[in-house]
Amino acid sequence: VGAEKINTEIITLSRFITEEQHKHPEATGDFTLLCQALQFSFKSIAYYIRRATLINLTGLAGSANTTGDDQKKLDVIGNDLFIAAMRGSGKCRALISEEEEEVIYFDEYPNAKYMVACDPIDGSSNLDAGVSVGTIFAISKLSDEVIANGRRPEVKDLLAAGTELVASGFTMYGASSQLVITMKGGSVNGFTLDSALGEFILTHPNMQMPKKRAIYSVNEGNSLYWEDKTVQYFNSLKFPPKTADGKDGKPYSSRYIGSMVADAYRTLLYGGIFAYPADKKSPKGKLRILYECAPMAMVMEQAGGQAVDSNMRRLLEVVPESIHDRSGIYMGSYEEMEKVIAAHK
Ligand code: AHG
Ligand code: MN
Ligand code: MN
Ligand code: MN
Repeated sequence: VGAEKINTEIITLSRFITEEQHKHPEATGDFTLLCQALQFSFKSIAYYIRRATLINLTGLAGSANTTGDDQKKLDVIGNDLFIAAMRGSGKCRALISEEEEEVIYFDEYPNAKYMVACDPIDGSSNLDAGVSVGTIFAISKLSDEVIANGRRPEVKDLLAAGTELVASGFTMYGASSQLVITMKGGSVNGFTLDSALGEFILTHPNMQMPKKRAIYSVNEGNSLYWEDKTVQYFNSLKFPPKTADGKDGKPYSSRYIGSMVADAYRTLLYGGIFAYPADKKSPKGKLRILYECAPMAMVMEQAGGQAVDSNMRRLLEVVPESIHDRSGIYMGSYEEMEKVIAAHK
């Protein structure tokens, strides 16, 4: 009974990537191998997060990273797992990580074509409370010249705008692990980890964000430092004008998890707007361009949304000045973003 209801045509991430590869006759399979390594890192990070309280992996590592964050033990382990996976793929030439001051070069693979930027654990302040966290990744291809010469790319070769990315996405470790990936010019696809099978299964094909939704997601504890236009914009969501017949307008709902991956995933599914504006205290914002803002902006845009910096400039066109450079960010549903942009003009 019910056997006919079981889906036997399961699309795993491996199958999905392989099928994508076959659509491009020029593809070498390198990207497929890189993705295999990526998904292994997500599975192992998910595994350790789930077991953290049992195996003494909660709390601080006792160190700080370049951007001044106190590292949690899992920030360090997630970073080590990610680096090992990228090295093991043999297809990654250079890696930028939130937890590493300098670029990591895999000189043992001089012909590797890809560069990866990652935030191994995003939202790590939430770890010990068992709140959702994630891993963010951004993949780009080195220039033909760098590849042909098998030389180490210089830092300036790696400081490119998000428009240069070939793929990006994230995995959210929540009640289940959700992987979202998009490739340049393609759709956004979501996969759920079936931990019994150890496979990411396509559960959210061709994700499209709702055009609007009355939800905003921002750390309002920073409002003291916000620019006037930012304050006015959020006030307009909380204190909408009265309707034509004199009734109160309906204010927006507030949702803020404090893990960008989780806030962005909800925004992707339900719609709304997520912001981490630049402000008087942090004139460059908090979130980092290469491994937080740009990959997320690519996902949002390719799902039909928009993403801009605090100057209302398309985020994907922002070129970082250094590997850990930051930017203010607003991203979300298309129409909600039109309001953000209008309010800041
Ligand atoms: P990370 O844990 O990778 O350092 O990133 C933290 C980021 C992001 O996840 C989140 O949106 C934001 O910091 C939260 O910052 P606040 O605590 O300032 O709201
Ligand atoms: Mn951090
Ligand atoms: Mn982060
Ligand atoms: Mn992090």
